[in-house]
Amino acid sequence: MGQLERTLSIVKPDGVSRGLIGEVVGRFERAGIRIAAMRMLHMGKKEAEGFYAVHKDKPFFRTLTDFMSSGPVVVMVLEGQDVIRRNRELMGATNYKDAKPGTIRADFANDIERNVVHGSDSPENAAKEIAYFFSVLDIT
Ligand code: RTP
Ligand code: MG
Repeated sequence: MGQLERTLSIVKPDGVSRGLIGEVVGRFERAGIRIAAMRMLHMGKKEAEGFYAVHKDKPFFRTLTDFMSSGPVVVMVLEGQDVIRRNRELMGATNYKDAKPGTIRADFANDIERNVVHGSDSPENAAKEIAYFFSVLDIT
């Protein structure tokens, strides 16, 4: 068995506006992943820039943070064995064209930037990203 981990998942503004919250949450639940915290919020530009600060020097930083602050998102803490990697498996590759069939991005995304979901990519980033949105008392 892998490590019991937590990771941050976000249903991005395109996923929320297209009615995919239930679809995404259902995939996590059917995979046996526990939802330990969940909230809907609408990030301002500054909050989106803070969240994606690791990408501040990338050419897509401005459009990414415009997109992430364009509407409400659903942020979740997922918990399970090896959940950081498993969530990324369920999500599929960043570019939907490279994502394996049956993954969230392969099934629903049609734009490299508007790719429905976010997932932390390492234990260090998971801890930082969870703390960006949730306090200890919010996590069940
Ligand atoms: P995320 O952080 O959102 O879970 O996605 P990821 O790890 O698969 O991809 P990452 O490299 O961290 O990129 C963050 C988000 O930026 C947008 N992006 N656009 N136009 C582009 O070439 C490009 N590359 C990345 C995507 O929304 C990506 O999820
Ligand atoms: Mg990433």
